[in-house]
Amino acid sequence: MTARRIGVIGAGNMGTALLRGILASEWGTKTRLIASHPKKSKAAALARELGIRVFGQNIEVALKADVLILGVKPQILEPVLTEIKSALRRDQLVISIAAGFPTAHIETVLAASVPVIRAMPNVAAVVRLSATVLCLGRHAKSAHAAEARRIFESIGTVVELPEYQLDAVTGLSGTGPMYIFQIIEGLSDAGVRVGLSRDVSTALTIQTVLGAAKMAEVLKTHPGILKDLVTSPGGTAIAALHSLERNRLRAILMDAVEVATARSKELGLARSGKT
Ligand SMILES: NC(=O)c1ccc[n+]([C@@H]2O[C@H](COP(=O)([O-])OP(=O)(O)OC[C@H]3O[C@@H](n4cnc5c(N)ncnc54)[C@H](OP(=O)(O)O)[C@@H]3O)[C@@H](O)[C@H]2O)c1
Repeated sequence: MTARRIGVIGAGNMGTALLRGILASEWGTKTRLIASHPKKSKAAALARELGIRVFGQNIEVALKADVLILGVKPQILEPVLTEIKSALRRDQLVISIAAGFPTAHIETVLAASVPVIRAMPNVAAVVRLSATVLCLGRHAKSAHAAEARRIFESIGTVVELPEYQLDAVTGLSGTGPMYIFQIIEGLSDAGVRVGLSRDVSTALTIQTVLGAAKMAEVLKTHPGILKDLVTSPGGTAIAALHSLERNRLRAILMDAVEVATARSKELGLARSGKT
């Protein structure tokens, strides 16, 4: 890994998770990382907490970083790009994590051949278990992809996909932790309903979700076959499965991912002025 300096503009939940992940990796050093925050108190707190340099002006990061990670909200991305574009050089790499903001639109605003990569991580970045998808813009080469991969592997797994699939990714894994939180809350409530204490019910639910996810990961077996392992004839699991099927659990999940994907598409089109 070349010792390129990484700068984060928009050091909120995701930006800070990335900074923490990089610092926890074997190659991430404090001197390689910089960030900016427009609020003085937040900039100072971040600098204190992470031990890195945090500037009050985004332009400082744009001037000093080799890789620029844009972690601001999508509605703030365009003004931030406009603010920093005069400072950008072709040997830099710009990575945006903003949802629904295409690389082509970023490239148009920058009006220069700076390489751009779009990343779609998820909130599990805070525990370094994000599922991140990377999409390369027009000027990004394989060396840029490798650099971005290395950065996002510090907060979880990374897959590279063509950008037309990113709305689907946003609907599935970008939004995904919310589906699982709903399931955890629902199962925890269910445990309370059948007589367990809230603490016990939540702890058992979390471990069950972790264990099932780990089994699917380690055994690399189709989930239908894993489900068959649990459903003995006339037993409790098949009775519960009948209830889930009657209530269309899988169709509900498919509908949710479909509407989230459509919403991502809609937001992207609105931002690129195509609606
Ligand atoms: N959260 C997710 O699950 C998730 C998943 C995938 C992708 N994303 C994408 O990640 C991005 C960040 O999301 P987030 O949840 O981390 O949001 P967030 O916590 O609100 O982070 C955004 C940060 O940007 C700061 N900021 C505001 N205006 C700024 C400016 N002009 N210059 C520099 N920094 C500025 C905000 O400060 P203040 O808080 O003081 O305003 C905040 O610290 C979004 O574009 C989102 O689409 C999020």
